Amino acid sequence: MIGIFDSGVGGLTVVRAILEKIPGYDIVYFGDTAHTPYGTKSGQTVIGYSINNIEFLLRQGAKVIVIACNTASSVATAQVLEQYAVPIFEVITPAVAHALDASANLNFGIIGTRATVSSGIYEKKIIENQPKARIYSVACPLLVPLVEEGWLNKRETAMIVKKYLQPLKTRRIDTLILGCTHYPLLKTIIQRKIGKRVQLIDSSICISETIETFLADNPDVDRQLGQSGNLSLFVSDVTDQFKKIAKMTLKTNIKFECVRI
Ligand code: DGL
Repeated sequence: MIGIFDSGVGGLTVVRAILEKIPGYDIVYFGDTAHTPYGTKSGQTVIGYSINNIEFLLRQGAKVIVIACNTASSVATAQVLEQYAVPIFEVITPAVAHALDASANLNFGIIGTRATVSSGIYEKKIIENQPKARIYSVACPLLVPLVEEGWLNKRETAMIVKKYLQPLKTRRIDTLILGCTHYPLLKTIIQRKIGKRVQLIDSSICISETIETFLADNPDVDRQLGQSGNLSLFVSDVTDQFKKIAKMTLKTNIKFECVRI
């Protein structure tokens, strides 16, 4: 089983990408909807939640863990890699690798939650590979609630996206990393507002490619995962709004089990 967790509903973009890229694997997803958002919380709090989420997924039989949440990936990866022996993947490294491949002028833009942006993790990983890169990051705290309201195609959302992206446009970035689980759902508006010449890096697609490569290179792990196409979805709180966004993301009605962990 591949275990995937997020602060809530946004990580379903990663589930969707993995289902598209490597269909058939058994997946267990945990959305920590009782504690969402993570993006406004302290690093210590997010680390604590991440450990609880991983423990839950391991109890369900996960043999590989994917941290779908950019915020948890930014602040909790170092700690959880130290603590667990199972393969654990975060979404930052694959997105950075794709961004480095995609960029011609090494002018990068990054958008994410406040916690992700203030962690500086994307800058650090880009600079490690490309010391000459110029990186401009913008925290976009209003985008997660807009997506959760289902305001994907509203004029107001387009105006807010435009306002957030303006400083990146001025800097003439050529590659923009969507550093948050929710932003793939706003891809069309983001592309329109940043301009069609800017390449968007969708971390959900990048991580699905990383998992595909890892499983091809590690048949011993691959064999342990189970390939009956089972998708088990757990959340720590269920709301009608959550169900609506989940349906929008996975394009089907799905059943969730609510668990207190
Ligand atoms: N999942 C979070 C992320 O990717 C966004 C929502 C939140 O703040 O919890 O950063």
